[in-house]
Amino acid sequence: MRYKNIFNLGIAISLLTCSPFIGAQSQGKLKIGFMLPATGTYAALGTAIDNGFRLYVNEQGGKIGGREIEYVRVDDESDPSKAADNVNKLIKRDNVDVIVGSVHSGVAMAMAKAAKESGTLLIVPNAGAVAVTGPMCAPNIFRSSFSNWQPGFAMGEVAAKKGHKKIVTITWKYAAGEETMKGFKDGFEKSGGSVIKDLTLPFPNVEFQALLTEIASLKPDAVFTFFAGAGAAKFVKDYAAAGLKKSIPLYGSGFLTDGVLDAEGVDAEGILTTLHYADNLNNKRDQSFRLAYAKTFKLQPDVYAVQGYDAAQMLAIGLSATQGDAKNITTFAQALMKSKIDSPRGTFTLSSSHNPVQDIYLRKVIGKENVNEGVASKALADPGLGCKM
Ligand code: PHB
Repeated sequence: MRYKNIFNLGIAISLLTCSPFIGAQSQGKLKIGFMLPATGTYAALGTAIDNGFRLYVNEQGGKIGGREIEYVRVDDESDPSKAADNVNKLIKRDNVDVIVGSVHSGVAMAMAKAAKESGTLLIVPNAGAVAVTGPMCAPNIFRSSFSNWQPGFAMGEVAAKKGHKKIVTITWKYAAGEETMKGFKDGFEKSGGSVIKDLTLPFPNVEFQALLTEIASLKPDAVFTFFAGAGAAKFVKDYAAAGLKKSIPLYGSGFLTDGVLDAEGVDAEGILTTLHYADNLNNKRDQSFRLAYAKTFKLQPDVYAVQGYDAAQMLAIGLSATQGDAKNITTFAQALMKSKIDSPRGTFTLSSSHNPVQDIYLRKVIGKENVNEGVASKALADPGLGCKM
C-alpha cells in the first residue's frame, strides 16, 4: 500500500514536470507592449497590425506559449523624437515581456536600440528600416514584415524588364523612402537604366504640387515612389489630377496601394506595385485568414494585418519552444530560425539577420484589389549588410 502511494506520487510529479506549459502558468500573464501609431498618417496601419495580431492570439484560445496575454498600448504618433521615451516607458515602467512595433522606420530604430540595450524581445511588424536587421541586428530582434530594400529592388528589376531607361523617384525624406529608392536603383541600374532625379519632401508632408510640376517638365519614362497610408492616397489622387497618369506610368512599392484603395478610387486603377502580399493569392492559409479577418473586424485585411498576424505567429513559435519564457532568447531564436512560417503571404523563413526571406509579388490594381500578376522576385533576402550577431 505504501509503495502504491509512493508510485502514484511519482507519476503525479512526472506528469507535472513533463507538462510543456507548467512553467508558463507560474509566470503569469505575458505582457506585450504594443508601440504603434494610433494617430497621424499611419494610424490605420497601426490598427490593422493590432487586429491581425489579436486575430492570431484569439485563434489560439487567447494564449501564447501557454500564457494568457495582457496588452499595454502606446500611441507612438509615428514620431521618432518621442520614440526613445515611449519604448523605455514600456520596458522600464510597464515591465513588458515583449515589445511589438512599429510602423515608422525612425521609430523602429529607437525601439531596436532600446531592445538591444535591455535584451527585451522585439518583433517589428512593419517598419522596414534596413539597420534593424543590419548594423543594429541582435539575437532578440526579429521582423515579421520586410526590409525597405526588398520591394524596391523587385520593382527595379520589373521596370528594367519593361524597357524603361530614365526614371524619376519621389518619396518622403526618411529611411523608408530613401532605402526603398536604394533598392529600386540596385534592381534598375544593373540593367543599364538610370534614375535621373530623386525628388523628396519631409515626412509626413503632402504638398506634392511643385514636385509634380517638376516631374512633368523632366518627362521621364516612368516614376517610382514610396508613400504609405493617408499620404499615399493623397499622392495617387494628386498624380492623376495633375494629368500625369495618362502620360507617365506610376510604379510603387506596394504600400502605395495597400489598405488605401477605397480612398484612392479610380485614380489607382492599373497601378503596378511590388510587395510580399496580394489580395488574391488563393492559398488555403490566406483564404481562411481573410475570411476570419473580415468576419471579426468587418474589414478586408491588408499587408499590415498579415504582418501583425505573423508577428503573433512568430512569438508563438518561439515561446512554445521556451515554454513561455520570453527571456530565453537562445532557444526562442533557434526555434524561429529552423521554422517555415506559415503566413497568408505564402511560407517564409528568416535570414540570419532575422528578416523574412520571401517572394515579392508584382500586383496590379483592378477595382478594389491588388491583384497578383506573378512573382517578381522569388525568395528574396535582404543582404543584411553590417549585421554581426
Ligand atoms: C516605414 O517607415 O518603414 C514604413 C512605413 C509605412 C509603410 C512601410 C514602411 O507602409
